[in-house]
Amino acid sequence: MKNTPFDLTGKVAIVTGSSRGVGRSSAELLAKLGAKVVVSSRKAEACKEVADGINAAGGDAIVIPCNIARKAEVEALIAGATKHYGKIDILVCNAAVNPYYGPLLDITDEAFDKIMGSNVKSNIWLSALAIPQMAERGNGSVIIISSIGGLRGSTVIGAYGISKAADFALCRSLAGEWGPKGVRVNCIAPGLVKTDFARALWEDEAMLKRRTATTPLRRIGEPDEIAGAVAYLASDASSFMTGQTIVIDGGVTTAAV
Ligand SMILES: NC(=O)c1ccc[n+]([C@@H]2O[C@H](COP(=O)([O-])OP(=O)(O)OC[C@H]3O[C@@H](n4cnc5c(N)ncnc54)[C@H](OP(=O)(O)O)[C@@H]3O)[C@@H](O)[C@H]2O)c1
Repeated sequence: MKNTPFDLTGKVAIVTGSSRGVGRSSAELLAKLGAKVVVSSRKAEACKEVADGINAAGGDAIVIPCNIARKAEVEALIAGATKHYGKIDILVCNAAVNPYYGPLLDITDEAFDKIMGSNVKSNIWLSALAIPQMAERGNGSVIIISSIGGLRGSTVIGAYGISKAADFALCRSLAGEWGPKGVRVNCIAPGLVKTDFARALWEDEAMLKRRTATTPLRRIGEPDEIAGAVAYLASDASSFMTGQTIVIDGGVTTAAV
């Protein structure tokens, strides 16, 4: 990818929740494109495996564990990455939680606060700590992994959908505030992807059958199929794009039913 707008040589990226799933695929692809990558999740051991793989393949990765729900750990992630690599060019806010499955009005305050804290407030923390230094250099890209759950209603994961819709709004406002300083902020909204996060959905055969029947591509996604869009948004290939959301869902939100 050298000498193409997708080249990330010299860039530094943080990817939250990159020990597995979409985050891992994204970290690995950014590294392949030349970025130095901070691999992060709650579990250092799982991150180490990913970073070791990147380094063994000739890339450059370090591990900084961080629970995105804890402000002190988010601060340590940004500070640690900046100290080690000198800057942050690409911030991928990928980690998210969904501790509740059921009717929206039955959710406990605790579960609702956990969802909003991890999926929305932590993205503000990460952005507040990373964007000003990007703006100082006049260049940076923030990518928030939202969900088509933020575009559609749900009878079982409504609160998660609220948090993911909030991410679209967060992205649009940050794009407006920081665009004049050269920092771009975009979202990706995946449909159902085969990861641990959505295991309950794709392991249920009846549900999977229903879902794939209404999906034009007739299947669910793989983490690598989201990572390509992360790489695009991280790179100069998307230099005129900000405040937007890329939907990657096999066509399910566009399909006639
Ligand atoms: N899979 C889908 O169908 C789907 C669809 C739409 C959107 N998404 C979005 O895609 C993103 C990634 O999900 P995924 O499907 O790749 O999930 P995944 O495979 O389960 O991976 C989740 C990652 O986040 C980390 N993590 C979980 N809680 C965390 C916390 N509190 N602090 C820091 N890291 C945490 C996990 O590692 P540790 O356990 O070590 O912390 C892991 O690295 C999420 O934003 C999710 O909402 C997923």
